[in-house]
Amino acid sequence: MMNLRSAVFAIALAATCGVAASPLRAQAQPAPQAQTTPEAAQPPQQQVQVPPPPPRQSVTEDMLLRENDRIIGRVSIPDTRLAFLEQPQGRTWRRFNETWAPWILGLSVILPLLALLLLYMFRGAQRYERDASPIYVIRYSAFERFNHWMTATSFVILALTGLNYVFGKRLLMPLMSPGTFGDFSQIAKYAHNFFAWPFILGVLVMIVVWTRDNLPRRVDLAWLRAGGGLFKDTTHLSAGRFNAGQKLLFWAVVLATLVTFGSGLALMFPLMFLDVNGMQLWGSIHSIAAALFIALIIGHIYIGTAGTEGSFGGMGSGEVDLAWARHHHDLWAEDAPRADPREDALPQPGHVSPPPHRT
Ligand code: HEM
Repeated sequence: MMNLRSAVFAIALAATCGVAASPLRAQAQPAPQAQTTPEAAQPPQQQVQVPPPPPRQSVTEDMLLRENDRIIGRVSIPDTRLAFLEQPQGRTWRRFNETWAPWILGLSVILPLLALLLLYMFRGAQRYERDASPIYVIRYSAFERFNHWMTATSFVILALTGLNYVFGKRLLMPLMSPGTFGDFSQIAKYAHNFFAWPFILGVLVMIVVWTRDNLPRRVDLAWLRAGGGLFKDTTHLSAGRFNAGQKLLFWAVVLATLVTFGSGLALMFPLMFLDVNGMQLWGSIHSIAAALFIALIIGHIYIGTAGTEGSFGGMGSGEVDLAWARHHHDLWAEDAPRADPREDALPQPGHVSPPPHRT
């Protein structure tokens, strides 16, 4: 019986001679006789080398992985690290991205929102007793406010475009065509890389400008013990320019920026600082740190807006009511520079003082 190699050779030979043949036919037919046609008179064509067919039980991807721990291909570009195709850790990383990451990121947005909604419903905003003719003090300079809003805008864009990596396909793609979603995601990806720079610049400026006021002081302990009066009305809590809660936020922002920006930089320049395993590990750390960062900033936005009456003005116009400053930052209020008098600072005819608010 003719073996497989001879059969293939017979097919190749038959094909070279213009004979349509199956292995069986090639086997059954006698060797071709000398041809009498004009073509046959020509010199024999070069033989086609046909590689032997793969053995019946070819190697599977799993077998290769089990044997070698990774699958490496061949590339013609100079960076041979890009020939790295597959490894078991890659599956762990994929599982993390497909199952854990959506939960971690989803809960980091939903849980703080729910918690703050409940807090607002049951506790309401932290209020202070306003003066009939308020005096205003300068809380943040124009430079501090510009820097804060540049950082905040960059952060919001980074957070939304980052969430698009994880949720875009699930939540946005059904609302548009895949092509539009592809274009949108491409722009979102560029925006994510671009806004990392004003963000890090903003945080670095915050570090330079605000570190001194965020160093711990003895009064911070009493403030922390009372939970900052967030959950319960308390008698007066002393604080400097920043209270203990704001100091914790500040240092958490510094730490979270260090982790998210550092890991993001490594992902922005693939394989420059880390190998494939390192990129996968730090990619996952980037997602988890970003999730915690988003939860932290949701809490900060609440406290700076709906949660504390009179707080937003400091970062909006730069000025706050002196009564607000005395209530929340007594150790700083008296030294705060006075702002120009405003119209509402003049006593209004027939003015009746509002009833005292909860503190
Ligand atoms: C996106 C919406 C944001 C809003 C509405 C907001 C609002 C505010 C307000 C009203 C203040 C002044 C609080 C006070 O003086 O008592 C403030 C301060 C501050 N913000 Fe934001 N902010 C936002 C985003 C961010 C982001 C993304 C960061 C950092 C990454 C940040 C970091 C800070 C820091 C460090 C302070 C000073 C300490 C403090 O008051 O907690 N903010 N913000």
